[in-house]
Amino acid sequence: MTCSAADYAFLRSLVFEQSANTLDPARDYLFEQRLQHLIQSTGLRSLDQLVAALRQFPDTAIQRAIAEAMTVNETSFFRDRTPFDLMHRELLPVLIERRRALRHLRFWSAACSTGQEAYSLAMLLREYFPQLNGWHIEIIGTDLSAEVVRRARAARYQRMEINRGLPARFLLKYFLQKDDEWEVAPEIRRNCRFFQQNLLESSCRFERYDGILLRNVMLYFDQPTRTHLLLNLHRVLEPDGFLILGSSEQTGLPDHFQTVFAAGTCYYRPLPG
Ligand SMILES: C[S@@+](CC[C@H](N)C(=O)[O-])C[C@H]1O[C@@H](n2cnc3c(N)ncnc32)[C@H](O)[C@@H]1O
Repeated sequence: MTCSAADYAFLRSLVFEQSANTLDPARDYLFEQRLQHLIQSTGLRSLDQLVAALRQFPDTAIQRAIAEAMTVNETSFFRDRTPFDLMHRELLPVLIERRRALRHLRFWSAACSTGQEAYSLAMLLREYFPQLNGWHIEIIGTDLSAEVVRRARAARYQRMEINRGLPARFLLKYFLQKDDEWEVAPEIRRNCRFFQQNLLESSCRFERYDGILLRNVMLYFDQPTRTHLLLNLHRVLEPDGFLILGSSEQTGLPDHFQTVFAAGTCYYRPLPG
């Protein structure tokens, strides 16, 4: 049996409830592909059976698993490069100077996927800011998907992942080869911690962040969800902290965030109030 249009609409609305991701009906075929494993693990034989079972007996764990399986986890080391140049040349030198007495920095890689963004930032800090030796540096990575958080914590990457965006010098300096994979070195891992978290949950893990990277996830949200999320981030960003979005994303909240153009890209400063 194949799924009906109503079954797909049911699955899309279930994903929206669990993760706020709005899925394009043109990509409904992905449900079959991505939920194969889940269907088998529940002892069912097909997607329409899974939908029928969920209609009759809603099961939160399965609903969550469906939402997680439908996430797009595309990422890479130093993805898009310019935000990392911006942090390296403009944002971090000033921030570090301002935190000289405190000797503490906390960043959030929000929707971190398999961890490359967080580890890229940790490598950047270690490589170019030796004055941070002895500081308390925290890079918190969070993601909806338990599977990508598990991979981020494991910090092991395949050659194909390493080949995407990571300078060879960083590979040699900050990775250890383990069989046919590469593992992030302990001095980089120790600055990074990963947690499973839905970005739309009202509580953030920490009260304050000096910098937040929220890249390539808002495109899956509708406008009310984006606004809700950005207002939450505004509350936890230090007044002199920065927010970096994906290259095609904007806050759309001029009363809450000032757009600053620099280094061929832009970032956001929280406005008071
Ligand atoms: C395309 S990846 C972006 C990864 C990284 N930020 C980057 O730019 O390379 C999007 C990530 O957002 C996560 N995600 C989607 N909806 C989420 C939500 N409601 N809460 C937390 N993470 C979510 C997905 O699991 C996925 O790993």
